[in-house]
Amino acid sequence: MISSRRDGADRHALVFGATGFIGRHLVLALGRAGVRVSTANRSPESYRRLVRWLDEHGHGEPPADLRADFTGASLIADGCEDVTEVHNCAGAYRFGMPADEARRANVDGVRAIVAFAARLPRLRRLVHVSGYRVGGQDPSPWSEERRRATYRALGAYEASKAEADAVFQAEAARLGVPWSIVNPPSVIGDAATGESDQYLGLASTLRDLWTGSLAAVPGNARTFVPVVAADYLARFMTLLPEDEAAEGTAYWPLDDATPALPDLLALVAEHYRVKAPRARIPVALVRRLPQRLTKADPETLSFLSEDRYPTASASAFAARHGLAMPDAATTIRRWADHLAAHRFGKAEPLRGAGGRRFTAPAGVRTFEIGGPDAPTLVLPGLPVNADTWAPVVAALGRARAVDLPGLGMSAGHRDDWPSWLSALVRETGARHLVGHSIGAAAAVEAAAAHPEAVERLTLVSPFFLQARPARLTRRASLTRRYLRRVSSETLAMRLTGTAAHAAALESSAADLRRGTVAATAARLLAATASPQWRDELAAGLRRHAGPVHVIVGADDPLTPEGRTLLDALPQVTVTVIAGAGHHPHITHPEEVARAVQRT
Ligand SMILES: NC(=O)c1ccc[n+]([C@@H]2O[C@H](COP(=O)([O-])OP(=O)(O)OC[C@H]3O[C@@H](n4cnc5c(N)ncnc54)[C@H](OP(=O)(O)O)[C@@H]3O)[C@@H](O)[C@H]2O)c1
Repeated sequence: MISSRRDGADRHALVFGATGFIGRHLVLALGRAGVRVSTANRSPESYRRLVRWLDEHGHGEPPADLRADFTGASLIADGCEDVTEVHNCAGAYRFGMPADEARRANVDGVRAIVAFAARLPRLRRLVHVSGYRVGGQDPSPWSEERRRATYRALGAYEASKAEADAVFQAEAARLGVPWSIVNPPSVIGDAATGESDQYLGLASTLRDLWTGSLAAVPGNARTFVPVVAADYLARFMTLLPEDEAAEGTAYWPLDDATPALPDLLALVAEHYRVKAPRARIPVALVRRLPQRLTKADPETLSFLSEDRYPTASASAFAARHGLAMPDAATTIRRWADHLAAHRFGKAEPLRGAGGRRFTAPAGVRTFEIGGPDAPTLVLPGLPVNADTWAPVVAALGRARAVDLPGLGMSAGHRDDWPSWLSALVRETGARHLVGHSIGAAAAVEAAAAHPEAVERLTLVSPFFLQARPARLTRRASLTRRYLRRVSSETLAMRLTGTAAHAAALESSAADLRRGTVAATAARLLAATASPQWRDELAAGLRRHAGPVHVIVGADDPLTPEGRTLLDALPQVTVTVIAGAGHHPHITHPEEVARAVQRT
C-alpha cells in the first residue's frame, strides 16, 4: 500500500550533484513528474553544461541555479524556504583518490547536506545516493582505527562512501531529518538510448573487449557485477519522497537479472561481433598481478564478487508504484553501443554533424555519424573512417557518413556490400551517395543495382578513374601489417603530406588496430588494382543516367582515359580542388562540402 501520494505540483526538489550523471537523469525525471526543481551547483560552468544537456533532452524550463559552497558555513545562502525534498547525488566518484580528498567530498559533503536539510522548514525527505556494496552501514561512529583499516582495505572511494553511509544515517537521526537511501550498483546508460558519459569500472572492461585487449575474464562463473539503467534509478528516486513508507529505508534498486560477468561479457562480445576471452582469471590472482598487466585500478577489484544484494524491498517499492525494470540484456546492448559509438569517451564532439550510432542495414552492424536517415550518405575511402568526414557532414547538413562493412567501426565483409547497399538506398532513404575512393566504387555499384533509388552520385577521388596503386600496395599481407601498426602521424604524412592532420586521423589509426579491419582494408586496397573491377566500375558509371559530380584534388588527377570517359558523359560534371590530393575531405573540408552541394 502507498501510505500517501503527493502531487508533483506541491513538491519543490533541490538536487545536489545535478550536473553529474545520476543528478542529470534525476532532474529530467523530476521534471517529467511535474516536480519543481532547483539545483545546487558549485560553478556557473557546470550549471551551463547541465542546462544545455537538459535542453537537448527535452526538459523545458531550466531549473533554478543555487550556488552551493561546500566550504562555507551555510552551504546555500537562500532560495530554499519552500524546498520539500533534497536529493544528494553529489560526490567524488573516482578511483585512485587520496583518502583526504575522498573524505572531504563524500563524508564532509554528506555531513554538510544533512545539516543544511535539517534547517529547511518544509522538508519532507532527504534522499541520499550511497552504493550497493557500502549501503546498510551500522550508523555508530567510526573509530580512527576502523577508519584506517577500512580505507586501507577498500580504497579511498569505496571506504569514503561506506563512511558517508554511516554518517548520513547517524546525522539524519540526530537532527531529525526524514531520509531515504538508494544503493545503486553500476549505473549504465539510459534504457532507451544507452546514453552514458561514464567510462570507469564495467565500462572500461567493455572498452578492453571492444579493442581486443581483454585477455581474460576476471572472476568466475558466479561473479556478479549488477547494473541499473540511469533513467530507472532516476524514476525510482523521484518516487521516494511521494511515499511515506519509504522514510527511514534504504533500497538496492539493482537488476537481479543482470547476467553474471562472463555471460554479460559474452552478450556484449556477440553484439560487438568480437571474440569474448575464454580464459578466466581468479580475482585473488588479479589482485597479485601488477596493474600494468591487469590495467584495472586495484580499487575496482572489490566489485568483482559473487555477493548478492537485498533487492526485495526495492522490487516491492517499484511494483507498488508501477515502475517496471527495463530488460537487462537490451539495456546492456544499447549502453554498449553508446560507449563504442562514442569511442569510450575519446570521440571528438561532432559540432553540428548530428549523432553517433550503430545501425543494422541488412543485418550488418554499421557505424554511422550524422542525421539518422539523412538523404545524403557518405561512403568513405581507405584507410580512413566515417569520423574523418565529420566536418563535411556538419557543413552539408541533412547528411551522414557510414563505415563500410568490415572497416572503421562497422562489422561485416566485402561480400555484404550488395545487400548492405541495397538496404541503405532502399530502406534508409539514402538518395544522394557521396563515395570517396573505394566508397566511390560502392556508390557506383549501389546506383547500378538500384537506379530507381539513387538520384545523385558524387564521386570524390574515384580510384578507378585514377592511376593504379603502387605495386607494394597490391601485396595485401604487407599492407595489413603496415596498417595495423601505423600511427596517426605517419598516416597523416602518408595521406596528406603533413603531420598536421594527425589528430583527424587518430580514430582511423585506432580502428585499424582492431580485429580484422587492417586485413579488410589491405585486401580492398589490393583489389583497387584489378583491371576487371576498374572496367566494371567505369561501365557502371557510363550506364548511370542520373547526375554525377566527380571531385578530385589537383595533385591527384584523373588519368587521361578517366578524363576522356567523363568528357563523353553529358550527366557528369568535374570539380578540381586546388592544392588537394587523394583525401581532400581531410585537407580541404570546406571546399569539398561546397563542391558536394553543387550538382
Ligand atoms: N555512477 C554510478 O555508477 C554510481 C553507482 C553507485 C553510486 N554512485 C554515487 O552516486 C553519486 C553521483 O554519482 P555520479 O555517477 O552522478 O557522479 P558524477 O557524474 O561524477 O557526478 C558527481 C556530481 O557531484 C559533484 N561533485 C563532485 N565532486 C564534488 C565535491 N567534492 N563536492 C561536492 N560536489 C561534488 C559534481 O559537481 P561538479 O559539476 O561541480 O563537478 C557532480 O554534480 C556519487 O556519490 C557516487 O558515489 C554512483
